[in-house]
Amino acid sequence: MSDLGERGDVVGHESGSGLPSGRGVVVTGAGNGIGRAIATRLAAAGERVVVNDLDADAVRAVAAEIGAHAVPGDAASETGVADLVGAAREHLGAIDVWFGNAGIDHGRGLDASEVDWARSWDVNVMAHVRAARLLVPDWVEKGAGRYVVTASAAGLLTMLGTPTYSTTKHAVIGFAEWLSATYRHRGVVVQAICPQGVRTRMFDDAGPLQELLAHDSALTPEQLAESVWEALGDNRFLILPHPQVADYYATRATHTDRWLGGMNKLQRGLEQQGAL
Ligand SMILES: NC(=O)c1ccc[n+]([C@@H]2O[C@H](COP(=O)([O-])OP(=O)(O)OC[C@H]3O[C@@H](n4cnc5c(N)ncnc54)[C@H](O)[C@@H]3O)[C@@H](O)[C@H]2O)c1
Repeated sequence: MSDLGERGDVVGHESGSGLPSGRGVVVTGAGNGIGRAIATRLAAAGERVVVNDLDADAVRAVAAEIGAHAVPGDAASETGVADLVGAAREHLGAIDVWFGNAGIDHGRGLDASEVDWARSWDVNVMAHVRAARLLVPDWVEKGAGRYVVTASAAGLLTMLGTPTYSTTKHAVIGFAEWLSATYRHRGVVVQAICPQGVRTRMFDDAGPLQELLAHDSALTPEQLAESVWEALGDNRFLILPHPQVADYYATRATHTDRWLGGMNKLQRGLEQQGAL
């Protein structure tokens, strides 16, 4: 495990994205999958990284592997977010970049329970509202800060089978748009990562829905992290590691009924296969 002193040799170098490295960065849900890959990429570039996850063993192992600082805990509840922000500030001095990456996919169809809906709102949406409340005032005062949310293509389009996931991912993109529109003139950069399939545990757990996620070929978490790293250099709001999502998103906007008809055709195909 490293600390600020051990990483001091890289502070101030130029990063691959053209931005100065050595920033204080927090990545939530970094014990596995996408969060782990993003944290690894950032640490390799010389950023000072705090990794968080509910799974304490996993996040401690990641921290030891990449030279980051582990803060296990819940990155969704009000107290969990406050504890994480406090511990990260204590370690980093200041938080320059927040990767709100932790996310869940609970519940299927109209059978999704009240608990599935409540937990999905909490982790996929309210976690970001709670973090932004604590981070943005400091960034506005400094005139600089960056909030990156791992949303999903499901938040721009939809994900068949999972209304909890689709709805909450739409909601978090709505919140990110609001943040960007409100604070960009004060130096706050907001970015939303919207991938389709990425080969992680969440992808494995999707079962028969994997075919949908992998329709345009799933990425590895490392490929995803590389495209996120590149996007940090140009501040674009939508980070689309699967570029075809931009075309789907445009079609949805301009030919909404044709797009919904296409999605329903996919639904019928999946029903015939017994996947839904
Ligand atoms: N895998 C995909 O195909 C895919 C596609 C689009 C978007 N995403 C999004 O990417 C993000 C990461 O997903 P992943 O695929 O790496 O999944 P994953 O399940 O491999 O990893 C998610 C991590 O988040 C942690 N976590 C969950 N709730 C938490 C909480 N409240 N506090 C702290 N940590 C918590 C989990 O313990 C886990 O380690 C999610 O927001 C997900 O919705 C994934």
